[in-house]
Amino acid sequence: MPDPTSSAGADFQAMERHGWEKAAAAYGFFGRATCLVIPHVLTAARVKRGTRLLDLAAGPGHLAAEARRRGGRAVAADRSHAMTRVLVATHGDLPVVQTDGMALPFADATFDAVAAAFYLNHLDDPAGGLAEMHRVTRPGGWIATAVWDRPERARLNGLIAEAVARAGAGSAVPGPEHPLPEDETGLLHLLRAAGFSRPEARLVQGSLTISDPAELLEGLAGSTVRTAALLRGHSDHDVRRIRDELARGCEPYRSGDQLHIPVAAVILAGQRHE
Ligand SMILES: C[S@@+](CC[C@H](N)C(=O)[O-])C[C@H]1O[C@@H](n2cnc3c(N)ncnc32)[C@H](O)[C@@H]1O
Repeated sequence: MPDPTSSAGADFQAMERHGWEKAAAAYGFFGRATCLVIPHVLTAARVKRGTRLLDLAAGPGHLAAEARRRGGRAVAADRSHAMTRVLVATHGDLPVVQTDGMALPFADATFDAVAAAFYLNHLDDPAGGLAEMHRVTRPGGWIATAVWDRPERARLNGLIAEAVARAGAGSAVPGPEHPLPEDETGLLHLLRAAGFSRPEARLVQGSLTISDPAELLEGLAGSTVRTAALLRGHSDHDVRRIRDELARGCEPYRSGDQLHIPVAAVILAGQRHE
């Protein structure tokens, strides 16, 4: 378990906890990117007619809603109060639970499947988060999750980080006590260590169409936590430099008056032993 007195972990947890309360209202921009990946997460979690599914860290609940379209019986859960309000406003007919994924209010083996898109990288203790997902999944059931791929392929995230670095303007952003492994081997090891068998990792790629780099900058600043923290507190001069660098970085993805920004994620899945 991480040491709760450690400042690295504590600052990260505070940033995450408060950050989603602020980012929830404008999540639509980032949600357009996660929606490109969500169907693959559901497929990896083996969701079909009748599946009892927990959509954990549900955000606005698009995964739970899509599961229901596939005939699943979905419950959506998120820790953020503001995000839970967005969830209810967006998909009000879904069962919604406001809860921390590290201590779920469900009995052991409640669900056939647990899906958590873009969740583990927001935890200070991803192994503990996976253990809790394992606990509420029935023996033989599946969990699936998605993490962004490396910045060279997940350009939505990569372009901003590179623009900030080239502008020499990054703010210090606290990191988790236990960062997620960056490579597939490490991620699969984490799944195995949490007790899952038949661990899988699969790359999915798509692209997000936007009209200009400003849409990207403002969209990510408003709808994320970590990128928002990276961009916070800059002088007007620095913001202009970041904008210029971002515009340069985006040019290779231009087609006419639109930008098609590559999105890439790794879908991870594992089965709880029978
Ligand atoms: C990047 S969003 C992903 C939302 C959604 N799954 C999607 O793919 O669009 C991360 C979500 O995780 C939630 N979250 C972060 N830490 C959490 C925790 N410990 N327990 C439950 N939800 C958490 C946040 O409130 C936020 O809604």
